[in-house]
Amino acid sequence: MPSPHLYDTIQDAVNYLKSQSDLSPRFGLILGTGLSGLADEITEATEIAYGDIPHFPVSTVQSHRGKLIFGKLAGIPIVAMAGRFHYYEGYSMEQVTFPVRVMKFLGIERLIISNASGSVNPAIEAGDIVFVRDHINFMADNPLRGHNDERLGPRFPDMLGTYDRQLNTQALQMARKMGIPAHEGIYLGLQGPNLETPAEYQFFHRIGADLVGMSTVPEVLVAKHMELPIFVVSVVSNKCYPLEDIKETSVEDVIAKVGETSPRLQALVKELIVKW
Ligand code: HPA
Repeated sequence: MPSPHLYDTIQDAVNYLKSQSDLSPRFGLILGTGLSGLADEITEATEIAYGDIPHFPVSTVQSHRGKLIFGKLAGIPIVAMAGRFHYYEGYSMEQVTFPVRVMKFLGIERLIISNASGSVNPAIEAGDIVFVRDHINFMADNPLRGHNDERLGPRFPDMLGTYDRQLNTQALQMARKMGIPAHEGIYLGLQGPNLETPAEYQFFHRIGADLVGMSTVPEVLVAKHMELPIFVVSVVSNKCYPLEDIKETSVEDVIAKVGETSPRLQALVKELIVKW
């Protein structure tokens, strides 16, 4: 639950980061599954381990590296999270979303988030890319619950216009030009860490989701709370609908499937930040 001191802890982290890098990033990137390779393409990079940043949680999942990278991507100043925090790892919602608050106060214009997901839309295949156009929150916890500091945002944030359909249209056009199978879709966020039962996949399909995943919704809620524009792209790692298409899926399968699409997604994101 947000502590009454959240605002001050954000400023501590921001002040520390400004003492380490004088770059003014235009974009923040959460390099989730699918974009982690972009970390190696950042030039003029200053890397800061999460453990060195005041009040930052530390990442535990083996496929995620835990550092904030200031630098340039395709010549554009950015700050990237190499490694993100998931609720299923045991972090509080405040911890999961703390870096988003910090990036907002570093002055970014937009937050770009990537994730891996399961598809519950029969037309969306494993390996496809989906630009998220809305979400359904099934996480049963909320980073905005508890004390609200009006300096960060309102008590009751409106969720209309959270996702920018025009940017998604541009991204879809660019994906088509680059020959990348891409869609727009609705992401349903779950706590995890288990994948879903067939009955659950069927239910999520029926209530209008295209994708299911275990991240992103908390970060989006906090971004919207602070009026920080976002862009979310998901890489489908497994197809879960119709039910006869479901296969047993391990974390290695997810990483391998996403790895096949990653280079193309990374090229696409670089093109987009240059355009924006
Ligand atoms: N369910 C939830 N999260 C996921 C899945 C899934 O099937 N695939 C990748 N992340």
